[in-house]
Amino acid sequence: MAPYLHAFKTTTVRNTAATAPYMHNGVYKTLEEVIDFYDKGGGIGLGMKVDNQTLSDEPLNLTPKEKQLLIAFIHTLTDKAPQY
Ligand code: HEM
Repeated sequence: MAPYLHAFKTTTVRNTAATAPYMHNGVYKTLEEVIDFYDKGGGIGLGMKVDNQTLSDEPLNLTPKEKQLLIAFIHTLTDKAPQY
């Protein structure tokens, strides 16, 4: 069905700091690269033709500090090994 073409379920970011490379095709090696992807407006923001992109295609204009805080937040989502 057209509205669902290329759609897929939004991934969890739990333990993402430990699961590089990122995205379905491993295109980004670092979280910095992933944040830059969003900051530029995703695929459309990068000049690709992406039908049905739901995230903002406008630049987010994140400051270096905001990018750093997003990455710090993602690091807080890393599980600790259980102590038995
Ligand atoms: C600045 C805000 C965002 C951050 C920091 C962020 C972070 C991430 C990260 C780190 C991944 C990679 C996960 C992995 O490969 O293990 C990811 C993937 C993904 N995110 Fe986001 N995300 C943001 C906004 C959004 C929004 C607004 C949407 C939906 C409207 C979205 C939908 C997705 C989807 C569908 C994927 C999987 C993409 C793929 O595998 O190719 N994200 N995100």
